[in-house]
Amino acid sequence: MPGDKSISHRSVMFGALAKGDTEISNFLRGADCLSTISCFRSMGVDIEEKGENVLVHGKGLRGLRRPDGILDCGNSGTTTRLISGILAAQDFDVTLTGDESIQKRPMKRIIDPLSLMGAEIESVRGNGCAPLHITGAPLHGISYSTPVASAQVKSAILLAGLYADGETRVTEPAPSRNHTELMLSSFGADVRTEGTTVTIRQAEELYGQKIQVPGDISSAAFFIAAGLLIPGSEILLKNVGVNPTRDGVLRVFRRMGGSIETTALSSGAGEPAADLLVKASRLHGVEIGGEEIPSLIDEIPVIAAAACFADGVTVIRDAAELKVKESNRIAAMTENLRAMGADVTETEDGMIIRGGRPLHGAVIDSRNDHRIAMTFAVAALAAEGETSIPQWDCVNISYPGFLEDLRKL
Ligand code: S3P
Repeated sequence: MPGDKSISHRSVMFGALAKGDTEISNFLRGADCLSTISCFRSMGVDIEEKGENVLVHGKGLRGLRRPDGILDCGNSGTTTRLISGILAAQDFDVTLTGDESIQKRPMKRIIDPLSLMGAEIESVRGNGCAPLHITGAPLHGISYSTPVASAQVKSAILLAGLYADGETRVTEPAPSRNHTELMLSSFGADVRTEGTTVTIRQAEELYGQKIQVPGDISSAAFFIAAGLLIPGSEILLKNVGVNPTRDGVLRVFRRMGGSIETTALSSGAGEPAADLLVKASRLHGVEIGGEEIPSLIDEIPVIAAAACFADGVTVIRDAAELKVKESNRIAAMTENLRAMGADVTETEDGMIIRGGRPLHGAVIDSRNDHRIAMTFAVAALAAEGETSIPQWDCVNISYPGFLEDLRKL
């Protein structure tokens, strides 16, 4: 599987802030992670291709320089939010923005806590979205409870916390992915987790690491779903990251009756990876909600598509965050699944899917959202007739080789 997107972003960012080199293998060369590389290059960080690997020559915590122009985060929420936490503490000012989708995504959720820490961040158009103008300032630690479980918000605060006087503490309503905590700790930061509270202390130095990025479970999810749905399938997916804050999709598909066997387990820098053997299975509807939502937030589109082929009703709730992803994924899923003949009702915070109706091909509006486009490639495989997905190139955001891999199967 191609490298994990969240971990790839973080390896470049933390490598840039470390002393010494960080060598990254299985780095995801998707457009989002390339946005992160280009932002750090424009702040003076030397990032090289070394064979298959990426080599980041760290500048240290105080080594970034003011970029000449505006920082372009492309389509990447992770780049925008995490970099803001870093920029809040630099000794220069900068404007950052991204594409049309990024300029609609909520940034108040990072502006509020970073401002409490002493940062000067302004939404240039005053709408709580990018472009953001950030003037670095001396920061101080805070204790902050985030209203939403978001690893991007948590990480922005923790990264600012590397620079802030004293201790910075973040409490979330439910645990979100913990890559920042695990990775910052291996880079030498003092980070502790107790329940849903993470505490970080001001850091003097981070140290370059060798990082092997595990395969992305969010990308694997498309093949897991396809393998479960298409009669006669048996697919072995190698080296899939199965960090427990990310593997909700496995739990849900198993709960639906899916056959997913773990055939090998390994672990590097606290990130477990597994080989997964998926076999076609008869699925049944389930309820999905509560604390498990953050552990499968990016996989809900493909779970919803699979639920259309399951017996009975699937209810997805507590997932209002889906409305503020790369697109409004609740609306995108409901509209496109209905176009294929599915019985789906949109709710305030999720969907109700009455499975068991055969789906037929349709023209899909991906809304330029990579996960919506790939989800409907999977739905199309299991549907009668032909499906066309005109805005297809967006899959390059997280999985440039998706179509090739799909063809191989
Ligand atoms: C990510 C966190 C999630 C996820 C996104 C990547 C990250 O967003 O949806 O694709 O790398 O931290 P939120 O933390 O905002 O839910």
